[in-house]
Amino acid sequence: MKVTVIGLGYLGATHAVAMAELGHEVIGIEPDPRKLSALSQGVLPFHEPGLDTALTKTLATGKLTFKAAHDAESAASEIFFICVGTPQRAGSDAADTSYVISAAEDLARWVGRDAVVAGKSTVPVGTAAELKKRMDAIAGFDVHLAWNPEFLREGTALEDSLRPDRIVVGTFDQHSVQVIKNVYAPILESGTPFLELDVPTAELVKVAANAFLATKISFINAMAEVAEVSGADAVALAKAIGYDERIGNKFLRTGIGFGGGCLPKDIRGFMARADELGVGSAVEFLRNVDQVNLRRRDRVVSLANTELGEVSGKAITMLGISFKPDSDDLRDSPALEIAQRLQAQGAHLTVHDPVSLVPLASRAPELSSEQDLMAAVKSADLVILGTEWKQYREVDPAELGELVKTKTVIDGRNVLDVARWQQAGWKVIALGRNIQNG
Ligand code: UDX
Repeated sequence: MKVTVIGLGYLGATHAVAMAELGHEVIGIEPDPRKLSALSQGVLPFHEPGLDTALTKTLATGKLTFKAAHDAESAASEIFFICVGTPQRAGSDAADTSYVISAAEDLARWVGRDAVVAGKSTVPVGTAAELKKRMDAIAGFDVHLAWNPEFLREGTALEDSLRPDRIVVGTFDQHSVQVIKNVYAPILESGTPFLELDVPTAELVKVAANAFLATKISFINAMAEVAEVSGADAVALAKAIGYDERIGNKFLRTGIGFGGGCLPKDIRGFMARADELGVGSAVEFLRNVDQVNLRRRDRVVSLANTELGEVSGKAITMLGISFKPDSDDLRDSPALEIAQRLQAQGAHLTVHDPVSLVPLASRAPELSSEQDLMAAVKSADLVILGTEWKQYREVDPAELGELVKTKTVIDGRNVLDVARWQQAGWKVIALGRNIQNG
């Protein structure tokens, strides 16, 4: 099929490559000249394991091409996926839908009568109906608009796109259902559930799923707060409750909390939309979810101060700065906020991260960084593990111990082998745990 993907950020670039991998002829549209030129040369503007090689491969087959704007060739597509961002609006909790609106209005000037427009961006419930009104008015006919949310995770984005848990589609008409089934046919053939829903439900599935995941993480982090004052261990607690299949053991990893471009902004956007709809109280608990999450960052800043007397003038090394491993995404990263706050209090921060130091230099130029892990910890008064990259879990604590000034580590993700670090002479402090250091 002929497919156009509009917006080549994280979601759009992955989706375009995934569609080409399925054998479709894909045109990706991206107005940003830097992103466009990088992608056209087979270079991903962000870190995502496996996607770079898949991009090069699909470009070489000729199945994937990129353009700055619609033209007659892209207008002949059978399906258009809108993948532009919906960031948090400055000074507000609400999602900024202006990019989605302008992408839809622009497309309405080009889209064919039989083509389907499938929105993938995460939007406040009710957005698709509003877009359809605007598109119909511009196109002069009934545009086949559908909502088809995406659940990919950074770090496993291509795999999640090609082998999703489910495909969710909200439609106003049956023609759209058929075209969407056709485009996903190779995935559906392997038995992936296809959920045909009304449009508002499809819009809500995405925010509801992210709200649930955020709630799970904040639940265990709330338990960590209780554990910290009662001598309990939140890691052992999570394991024990997780054996109950109704609870499950996933997304109960306690630590410095969630960040990234989705969970924080999606729960805030959800609260703002619910308020507009007059049901703010129904999701008021998400305010707590957000606050518990942000309090974990306060906790690390306060632990660092307690540990160092005061942080001013002290050398602190942050291991990992992205919001999660296998990603260079710094959006709302807990590790980044903690590093910036400690630096603002007068500490000398050195950041190590396997892939995020280039984006870090433009995002937080006040933070020093070091590509070599051993150099990064040299003479540190305190080491904080901010992102659970594999290499930090596997590093030899004895080797690091010879380089630091003081062997104290705050494990912000509860991934270090405490006994091993303690044997190497380290004082290990972890969130939600009362670790006895000899
Ligand atoms: C999330 C959703 O998982 C995905 O379905 C949606 O499409 C986009 O948003 P992503 O932001 O890539 O994906 O990351 P995710 O793996 O969900 O992790 C989010 C944050 O939660 C990370 O900062 C991670 O470190 C943190 N987290 C995750 C925890 O603190 N504890 C956990 O148990 C799990």
